[in-house]
Amino acid sequence: VTRASLALLALAACDWSLHRMQRGPRCGVDESTELLANASCEQPPPDGIVAFDPEPPAPPPPITRALLVRGRDRFDRFCAPCHGLAGDGDSQVARAMSLRVPPSLVGAAAATLPDARILVTIERGYGVMPSYAMVLAPRDRFAVLHYVRALQQRIVELTALSPAQREEATRWLR
Ligand code: HEC
Repeated sequence: VTRASLALLALAACDWSLHRMQRGPRCGVDESTELLANASCEQPPPDGIVAFDPEPPAPPPPITRALLVRGRDRFDRFCAPCHGLAGDGDSQVARAMSLRVPPSLVGAAAATLPDARILVTIERGYGVMPSYAMVLAPRDRFAVLHYVRALQQRIVELTALSPAQREEATRWLR
């Protein structure tokens, strides 16, 4: 027996359909079936089942100093490795990345992203950026969002400040 005919024998021995798992029999809610006692595909839920009632989303927390400090802590840990501590996209990862380089989060493009878009990016990920829903609870996502907003406002013309703020800022700049 040649090697080719052995291979053919082996092939003939198996079910040569590649779609078995894709075309399984199914039972739609408004269909009937012989498999179940009342012949209906729609079955009453077993005793003790409670309807799923998702919790309404918590209202966003107020933007306080404590929230921003928390946001900075989470940002520095989870976002800065790629987007840079200043959010400007300069990081070790960005320098080594060949696919899609983490963008600046403080440039003009990121500044126009709506809050909801940034929150969803953190929650679900975006392109090659992974989701952070597992490590950042909704409150932390909100804290990170507002810390990013604070980073975006970091570069301000001195003339745009009130005299008191300018006085304080100049003291820091000396
Ligand atoms: C592993 C590297 C990495 C980490 C960590 C990371 N990002 Fe990203 N991020 C990226 C990359 C890469 C992109 C661009 C993705 C693309 O365009 O495909 C991106 C895109 C974004 C965008 C732009 C989304 C848009 O709609 O244009 C935002 C905002 C963002 N990231 C915020 C964050 C925040 C906040 C964190 C921390 C919770 C974070 N990223 C953590 C790599 C990362």
